[in-house]
Amino acid sequence: MLRKVTLLAAALLLVGGPALANTKVREPEPVAFSFEGPFGRYDQTQLQRGFKVYREVCSACHSMNLVAFRNLGDPGGPFFNPEYSAAKGLTSNDNPVVKALAADTQIADLDSETGDAVQRPGIPADRFPAPFPNVIAAKASNGGLAPPDLSLMAKAREGGPEYIASLLQGYGPPAHGVTLSPGQHYNAYFVGGVIGMAPPLAADKVSFDDGTKSTVRQQAEDVAAFLMWTADPHMEARKQMGFSVLIFLVLFSGLLYASYRRVWRNESH
Ligand code: HEC
Repeated sequence: MLRKVTLLAAALLLVGGPALANTKVREPEPVAFSFEGPFGRYDQTQLQRGFKVYREVCSACHSMNLVAFRNLGDPGGPFFNPEYSAAKGLTSNDNPVVKALAADTQIADLDSETGDAVQRPGIPADRFPAPFPNVIAAKASNGGLAPPDLSLMAKAREGGPEYIASLLQGYGPPAHGVTLSPGQHYNAYFVGGVIGMAPPLAADKVSFDDGTKSTVRQQAEDVAAFLMWTADPHMEARKQMGFSVLIFLVLFSGLLYASYRRVWRNESH
Protein backbone atom coordinates (compact mmCIF):
# COMPACT_ATOMS: atom_id res chain seq x y z
CA MET A 1 0.00 0.00 0.00
CA LEU A 2 2.68 2.45 1.12
CA ARG A 3 4.68 1.66 -1.99
CA LYS A 4 1.71 2.38 -4.18
CA VAL A 5 1.18 5.76 -2.53
CA THR A 6 4.87 6.63 -2.89
CA LEU A 7 4.80 5.62 -6.54
CA LEU A 8 1.69 7.67 -7.12
CA ALA A 9 3.24 10.70 -5.42
CA ALA A 10 6.40 10.32 -7.51
CA ALA A 11 4.33 10.05 -10.69
CA LEU A 12 2.33 13.14 -9.74
CA LEU A 13 5.52 15.07 -9.10
CA LEU A 14 6.95 14.08 -12.45
CA VAL A 15 3.82 15.15 -14.29
CA GLY A 16 2.97 18.14 -12.14
CA GLY A 17 6.49 19.35 -11.41
CA PRO A 18 7.05 21.47 -14.49
CA ALA A 19 3.55 22.92 -14.28
CA LEU A 20 4.13 23.82 -10.63
CA ALA A 21 7.48 25.40 -11.47
CA ASN A 22 5.72 27.98 -13.64
CA THR A 23 3.52 29.28 -10.92
CA LYS A 24 5.64 28.83 -7.80
CA VAL A 25 7.06 32.08 -6.47
CA ARG A 26 10.49 31.91 -4.90
CA GLU A 27 10.71 33.22 -1.33
CA PRO A 28 12.78 36.43 -1.01
CA GLU A 29 16.37 35.85 0.09
CA PRO A 30 17.10 37.03 3.63
CA VAL A 31 19.12 40.25 3.94
CA ALA A 32 20.60 41.47 7.26
CA PHE A 33 19.27 45.04 6.99
CA SER A 34 20.48 47.47 9.66
CA PHE A 35 16.92 48.55 10.43
CA GLU A 36 15.68 45.13 11.52
CA GLY A 37 14.98 44.29 15.16
CA PRO A 38 13.73 46.41 18.05
CA PHE A 39 16.82 48.67 18.07
CA GLY A 40 17.42 48.70 14.32
CA ARG A 41 18.23 52.00 12.63
CA TYR A 42 18.60 53.06 9.04
CA ASP A 43 22.19 53.16 7.83
CA GLN A 44 22.44 56.72 6.55
CA THR A 45 25.18 56.01 3.99
CA GLN A 46 23.12 53.09 2.65
CA LEU A 47 20.09 55.38 2.29
CA GLN A 48 22.26 57.86 0.38
CA ARG A 49 23.43 55.12 -1.99
CA GLY A 50 19.87 53.82 -2.36
CA PHE A 51 18.58 57.29 -3.15
CA LYS A 52 21.23 57.59 -5.86
CA VAL A 53 20.09 54.29 -7.39
CA TYR A 54 16.47 55.48 -7.36
CA ARG A 55 17.40 58.86 -8.81
CA GLU A 56 19.67 57.56 -11.55
CA VAL A 57 17.84 54.36 -12.50
CA CYS A 58 14.33 53.76 -11.16
CA SER A 59 13.04 57.34 -11.44
CA ALA A 60 13.13 57.02 -15.23
CA CYS A 61 10.00 54.83 -14.94
CA HIS A 62 8.70 54.90 -11.35
CA SER A 63 7.13 57.88 -9.60
CA MET A 64 7.53 58.53 -5.87
CA ASN A 65 4.54 60.76 -5.32
CA LEU A 66 4.58 60.87 -1.53
CA VAL A 67 8.16 62.02 -1.06
CA ALA A 68 9.30 65.66 -1.09
CA PHE A 69 12.94 66.73 -1.33
CA ARG A 70 12.82 68.18 2.18
CA ASN A 71 12.01 64.69 3.54
CA LEU A 72 15.53 63.64 2.53
CA GLY A 73 16.84 65.95 5.28
CA ASP A 74 14.35 64.94 7.98
CA PRO A 75 15.62 63.08 11.08
CA GLY A 76 16.38 59.49 10.06
CA GLY A 77 16.55 60.49 6.38
CA PRO A 78 19.46 60.04 3.97
CA PHE A 79 20.72 63.64 4.24
CA PHE A 80 19.69 64.51 7.80
CA ASN A 81 22.22 66.87 9.32
CA PRO A 82 21.80 67.97 12.97
CA GLU A 83 23.09 71.42 11.95
CA TYR A 84 19.79 71.93 10.10
CA SER A 85 17.36 70.55 12.67
CA ALA A 86 14.75 71.96 15.03
CA ALA A 87 17.37 72.00 17.81
CA LYS A 88 19.16 74.77 15.88
CA GLY A 89 15.95 76.57 14.98
CA LEU A 90 16.21 75.36 11.39
CA THR A 91 14.47 72.73 9.25
CA SER A 92 15.43 70.36 6.48
CA ASN A 93 14.40 73.15 4.06
CA ASP A 94 17.64 74.91 5.08
CA ASN A 95 19.84 71.85 4.46
CA PRO A 96 22.17 72.79 1.57
CA VAL A 97 22.33 69.22 0.22
CA VAL A 98 18.54 69.07 0.07
CA LYS A 99 18.38 72.51 -1.58
CA ALA A 100 20.97 71.53 -4.18
CA LEU A 101 19.22 68.23 -4.99
CA ALA A 102 15.91 70.03 -5.43
CA ALA A 103 17.42 72.84 -7.51
CA ASP A 104 19.02 70.22 -9.75
CA THR A 105 15.57 68.94 -10.75
CA GLN A 106 13.18 70.60 -13.18
CA ILE A 107 9.60 70.87 -11.90
CA ALA A 108 6.54 71.45 -14.08
CA ASP A 109 4.65 74.54 -12.96
CA LEU A 110 2.42 77.33 -14.25
CA ASP A 111 3.64 80.86 -14.84
CA SER A 112 1.75 82.86 -12.19
CA GLU A 113 1.12 85.75 -14.60
CA THR A 114 0.44 84.16 -17.96
CA GLY A 115 -0.76 80.70 -16.85
CA ASP A 116 1.61 79.09 -19.33
CA ALA A 117 3.10 75.72 -18.50
CA VAL A 118 6.74 76.27 -17.49
CA GLN A 119 9.63 74.32 -16.02
CA ARG A 120 11.43 75.78 -13.00
CA PRO A 121 14.20 74.51 -10.69
CA GLY A 122 12.82 72.64 -7.69
CA ILE A 123 12.71 73.83 -4.06
CA PRO A 124 12.84 71.56 -0.96
CA ALA A 125 9.02 71.64 -0.60
CA ASP A 126 8.52 70.08 -4.07
CA ARG A 127 7.67 66.42 -4.33
CA PHE A 128 9.77 64.20 -6.58
CA PRO A 129 8.53 64.75 -10.13
CA ALA A 130 6.86 61.80 -11.86
CA PRO A 131 8.50 60.45 -15.02
CA PHE A 132 5.22 60.35 -16.96
CA PRO A 133 2.43 62.96 -17.07
CA ASN A 134 -0.31 60.32 -16.60
CA VAL A 135 -1.04 56.59 -16.50
CA ILE A 136 -1.79 56.39 -20.23
CA ALA A 137 1.65 57.80 -21.06
CA ALA A 138 3.26 55.50 -18.47
CA LYS A 139 1.59 52.46 -20.05
CA ALA A 140 2.37 53.54 -23.59
CA SER A 141 6.09 53.74 -22.76
CA ASN A 142 6.23 50.42 -20.92
CA GLY A 143 4.55 47.87 -23.14
CA GLY A 144 1.10 48.44 -21.65
CA LEU A 145 2.13 48.08 -17.97
CA ALA A 146 2.33 51.24 -15.89
CA PRO A 147 5.32 51.12 -13.49
CA PRO A 148 3.77 51.41 -10.01
CA ASP A 149 4.53 54.30 -7.64
CA LEU A 150 7.35 53.24 -5.31
CA SER A 151 6.65 55.48 -2.26
CA LEU A 152 5.00 52.71 -0.23
CA MET A 153 6.12 49.67 -2.22
CA ALA A 154 8.26 48.25 0.60
CA LYS A 155 5.12 48.06 2.75
CA ALA A 156 2.78 46.97 -0.02
CA ARG A 157 4.46 43.66 -0.86
CA GLU A 158 4.92 40.65 1.33
CA GLY A 159 8.62 40.35 2.17
CA GLY A 160 9.00 44.15 1.92
CA PRO A 161 12.58 45.30 1.28
CA GLU A 162 13.87 41.73 1.02
CA TYR A 163 11.36 41.05 -1.74
CA ILE A 164 12.45 44.18 -3.61
CA ALA A 165 16.15 43.28 -3.25
CA SER A 166 15.48 39.73 -4.48
CA LEU A 167 13.25 40.87 -7.33
CA LEU A 168 15.92 43.20 -8.66
CA GLN A 169 18.47 40.36 -8.69
CA GLY A 170 16.00 37.64 -9.65
CA TYR A 171 16.19 37.69 -13.46
CA GLY A 172 17.25 34.60 -15.32
CA PRO A 173 16.43 32.23 -18.17
CA PRO A 174 12.74 31.26 -18.14
CA ALA A 175 11.74 28.17 -16.16
CA HIS A 176 10.83 25.12 -18.17
CA GLY A 177 7.57 25.61 -20.04
CA VAL A 178 7.46 29.41 -19.81
CA THR A 179 7.46 31.30 -23.09
CA LEU A 180 8.10 35.01 -23.08
CA SER A 181 6.58 37.55 -25.46
CA PRO A 182 8.60 40.61 -26.46
CA GLY A 183 8.92 42.96 -23.49
CA GLN A 184 8.49 40.15 -20.98
CA HIS A 185 11.25 38.88 -18.69
CA TYR A 186 11.56 35.91 -16.41
CA ASN A 187 11.91 36.61 -12.70
CA ALA A 188 11.52 33.80 -10.17
CA TYR A 189 10.51 36.15 -7.35
CA PHE A 190 7.63 37.77 -9.25
CA VAL A 191 4.16 36.22 -8.97
CA GLY A 192 3.71 34.14 -12.12
CA GLY A 193 7.40 34.49 -13.00
CA VAL A 194 6.80 36.80 -15.96
CA ILE A 195 7.43 40.51 -15.40
CA GLY A 196 7.17 43.51 -17.70
CA MET A 197 10.19 45.28 -16.16
CA ALA A 198 13.52 44.70 -17.89
CA PRO A 199 16.41 44.03 -15.47
CA PRO A 200 17.04 47.62 -14.31
CA LEU A 201 20.41 47.11 -12.61
CA ALA A 202 23.90 46.18 -13.84
CA ALA A 203 27.29 46.19 -12.16
CA ASP A 204 28.77 49.72 -11.96
CA LYS A 205 25.60 51.29 -13.35
CA VAL A 206 25.60 53.71 -10.40
CA SER A 207 28.86 54.99 -8.97
CA PHE A 208 28.74 55.33 -5.19
CA ASP A 209 30.20 58.47 -3.65
CA ASP A 210 31.44 56.60 -0.57
CA GLY A 211 33.56 54.25 -2.68
CA THR A 212 31.37 51.16 -2.06
CA LYS A 213 31.79 48.60 -4.84
CA SER A 214 28.78 48.93 -7.12
CA THR A 215 27.62 45.36 -7.63
CA VAL A 216 24.06 44.50 -8.65
CA ARG A 217 23.52 43.06 -5.18
CA GLN A 218 24.77 46.24 -3.49
CA GLN A 219 22.57 48.45 -5.66
CA ALA A 220 19.54 46.19 -5.09
CA GLU A 221 19.93 46.10 -1.30
CA ASP A 222 20.65 49.82 -1.06
CA VAL A 223 17.63 50.86 -3.12
CA ALA A 224 15.49 48.39 -1.14
CA ALA A 225 16.66 50.02 2.11
CA PHE A 226 15.90 53.45 0.64
CA LEU A 227 12.39 52.28 -0.33
CA MET A 228 11.87 50.97 3.20
CA TRP A 229 12.74 54.43 4.48
CA THR A 230 10.30 56.15 2.08
CA ALA A 231 7.57 53.72 3.16
CA ASP A 232 8.31 54.10 6.88
CA PRO A 233 10.30 57.30 7.51
CA HIS A 234 9.36 57.51 11.19
CA MET A 235 10.40 53.97 12.11
CA GLU A 236 13.36 55.08 14.24
CA ALA A 237 11.32 57.61 16.19
CA ARG A 238 8.64 54.97 16.77
CA LYS A 239 11.12 52.40 18.05
CA GLN A 240 12.68 54.96 20.38
CA MET A 241 9.24 55.93 21.66
CA GLY A 242 8.40 52.27 22.28
CA PHE A 243 11.57 51.88 24.30
CA SER A 244 10.84 54.98 26.40
CA VAL A 245 7.33 53.70 27.06
CA LEU A 246 8.76 50.38 28.25
CA ILE A 247 11.16 52.10 30.66
CA PHE A 248 8.32 54.26 31.94
CA LEU A 249 6.14 51.20 32.53
CA VAL A 250 8.90 49.44 34.47
CA LEU A 251 9.49 52.49 36.71
CA PHE A 252 5.77 53.05 37.12
CA SER A 253 5.19 49.42 38.19
CA GLY A 254 7.97 49.75 40.78
CA LEU A 255 6.40 52.91 42.14
CA LEU A 256 2.98 51.32 42.24
CA TYR A 257 4.33 48.33 44.14
CA ALA A 258 6.13 50.57 46.65
CA SER A 259 2.99 52.57 47.36
CA TYR A 260 0.97 49.37 47.67
CA ARG A 261 3.39 48.18 50.34
CA ARG A 262 3.17 51.50 52.11
CA VAL A 263 -0.61 51.72 52.09
CA TRP A 264 -1.01 48.23 53.55
CA ARG A 265 2.01 48.49 55.90
CA ASN A 266 0.05 48.34 59.17
CA GLU A 267 -2.65 45.91 58.08
CA SER A 268 -2.39 42.27 58.97
CA HIS A 269 -3.61 39.99 56.19
C1 HEC B 1 12.35 50.96 -17.98
C2 HEC B 1 11.37 51.19 -16.95
C3 HEC B 1 11.65 50.70 -15.54
C4 HEC B 1 12.76 50.93 -14.76
C5 HEC B 1 14.01 51.71 -15.11
C6 HEC B 1 12.48 50.32 -13.48
N1 HEC B 1 11.24 49.72 -13.50
FE1 HEC B 1 10.38 48.75 -11.96
N2 HEC B 1 8.75 48.31 -13.13
C7 HEC B 1 8.60 48.71 -14.43
C8 HEC B 1 7.35 48.16 -14.93
C9 HEC B 1 6.79 48.37 -16.33
C10 HEC B 1 6.77 47.43 -13.88
C11 HEC B 1 5.47 46.62 -13.90
C12 HEC B 1 5.85 45.19 -14.24
C13 HEC B 1 4.72 44.19 -14.24
O1 HEC B 1 3.71 44.44 -13.57
O2 HEC B 1 4.88 43.15 -14.90
C14 HEC B 1 7.68 47.56 -12.75
C15 HEC B 1 7.45 46.99 -11.51
C16 HEC B 1 8.25 47.17 -10.41
C17 HEC B 1 7.96 46.69 -9.06
C18 HEC B 1 6.69 45.98 -8.64
C19 HEC B 1 6.81 44.50 -8.64
C20 HEC B 1 5.55 43.89 -8.07
O3 HEC B 1 5.65 43.09 -7.14
O4 HEC B 1 4.45 44.24 -8.55
C21 HEC B 1 8.99 47.08 -8.27
C22 HEC B 1 9.16 46.80 -6.77
C23 HEC B 1 9.94 47.78 -9.10
N3 HEC B 1 9.46 47.82 -10.38
C24 HEC B 1 11.10 48.34 -8.61
C25 HEC B 1 12.02 49.01 -9.41
C26 HEC B 1 13.24 49.57 -8.89
C27 HEC B 1 13.67 49.54 -7.43
C28 HEC B 1 13.87 50.12 -9.94
C29 HEC B 1 15.23 50.80 -9.95
C30 HEC B 1 16.33 49.98 -9.53
C31 HEC B 1 13.04 49.92 -11.13
N4 HEC B 1 11.92 49.25 -10.76
C32 HEC B 1 13.35 50.37 -12.41
C33 HEC B 1 9.47 49.50 -15.16
C34 HEC B 1 10.71 49.93 -14.74
